[in-house]
Amino acid sequence: MSKSELYDQLASQLSSLLAGERDLVANTANFSALIFHSLPDLNWAGFYFVKDDELVLGPFQGRPACVRIAVGKGVCGTAAARRVTTIAPNVHEFPGHIACDSASNSEIVIPLMKGGRLIGVLDLDSPVFGRFDDEDATGLNRLVSVLVESVE
Ligand code: SME
Repeated sequence: MSKSELYDQLASQLSSLLAGERDLVANTANFSALIFHSLPDLNWAGFYFVKDDELVLGPFQGRPACVRIAVGKGVCGTAAARRVTTIAPNVHEFPGHIACDSASNSEIVIPLMKGGRLIGVLDLDSPVFGRFDDEDATGLNRLVSVLVESVE
């Protein structure tokens, strides 16, 4: 299956999984489980939510992670500050990268925007260098839109 076919399939699975539920924690928990078990080569998949101008750990799959990240710090904080999808092909070269799991070598972070406001970020980590490309960015943004529409 090609990457775009995989994201097509995930978008329809996600729509069914989230249908009829508006709770943010429930839907982000199921989102992270679906992604973690469907996308190859991930060692962490989950969410951080904006609280009092900081990113605070939300539902995820993988090893325990850093709980609070300042907006502007690391890959997650940079994506949050700029409100753009951010890819780090080699996290060890990303200025201010926060090493939560020593297995992580590449990372992608997608901001979650709702009603023009940043509510959090989706963060995926991989042990494979250069794991994430533009097709992942497009596919994951599509999945994030399904999620953001699903919640209150
Ligand atoms: N590496 C991230 C921190 C979060 S963990 O990867 C789960 C960063 O630099 O923002």
